[in-house]
Amino acid sequence: MRRKVTIIGAGNVGASCALRIADKGLADVTLIDIIEGVPQGKALDILEACPVQGTDVRVVGTNDYEETANSDIVVMTAGFPRKPGMSRDDLLLKNASIVQSCIASAARYSPNAILIIVSNPLDAMCHVALETSGFSRNRVIGMAGVLDTARFRTFLAEAAGVSASNVVAMVLGGHGDTMVPLVRYTSVSGIPIGQILTQEQIAGIVQRTRDGGAEIVGHLKTGSAYYAPSSSVVEMVESILRDQRKVLPCAARLEGEYGRKGIFVGVPCKLGAGGLEHIYEVELDNSERAALEASADAVKELVDVLGRNGY
Ligand code: NAI
Ligand code: 2OP
Repeated sequence: MRRKVTIIGAGNVGASCALRIADKGLADVTLIDIIEGVPQGKALDILEACPVQGTDVRVVGTNDYEETANSDIVVMTAGFPRKPGMSRDDLLLKNASIVQSCIASAARYSPNAILIIVSNPLDAMCHVALETSGFSRNRVIGMAGVLDTARFRTFLAEAAGVSASNVVAMVLGGHGDTMVPLVRYTSVSGIPIGQILTQEQIAGIVQRTRDGGAEIVGHLKTGSAYYAPSSSVVEMVESILRDQRKVLPCAARLEGEYGRKGIFVGVPCKLGAGGLEHIYEVELDNSERAALEASADAVKELVDVLGRNGY
């Protein structure tokens, strides 16, 4: 049976996701945007690459949600990206309204889909998507931890002079300044990172990871990152479509795990055919637990602002 992924937002992240999915031949793709012509043009361009790539998926661009019907996965990327000097949180109310309207339409046409949320501020937008769709938490998952972890792994590998594929790491917490790279669980092929890099080197890399999004915005000046973000989305999409059951850090709505309820925050998640299939509760020491608590509190502050504004 052919699988179908809808991507809402044909901008930098959305179009890159569509291209990566088509290149891997993972699923048919419907790319939808509010701007007429852009999703159609980008979808056709991606489709025309398929003979060269050796894949035979269908790629369609549209402005009409009817064409998104019966998607297996909906990836939500529509919304404003950051500009220099802006935090992800500055996008809160503008993007909440976009997420609400897009997810309402997408959920109506694909009531059984799994939603992967990307729009920022990520954890708060997951909250809007869950409330709007009425889907259970296993079908509303946020992408941020895979990206933050990829940045952490990249910087560690560079400093250690090893392959990034050998760096095993996990960044938990919200997608913001309070994210929680778990240094104690970080290794190079099982060798604890503290035996390879100094504490000063590691502390510098933790900070660079927290600032990873801003570092790219600082270079680009007109928008934010999209190559590593789209790779991260597609790792999640593939794990679900192929029932790979990868354990990836994703934003999930906690229902008692880590002592929190009703809040989205990045935690280790098993992603398979059912979407979010399990949340792993890793043992945390006092400082790690305090950092995760602070990160969850920061997400809650945003959700409270949303609540006061009718979301
Ligand atoms: P972009 O500006 O390139 O693309 C956004 C697209 O959304 C545009 O094509 C725009 O026309 C479309 N759009 C706006 N309102 C819409 C609506 N109501 N319906 C359909 N489409 C609509 O931005 P980019 O770089 O693709 O980023 C998209 C979002 O993803 C931003 O909020 C950004 O902050 C976030 N992001 C999140 C990451 C994460 O780790 N969670 C990583 C990278 C980006
Ligand atoms: C990033 O971390 C902007 O959230 C986006 O690059």
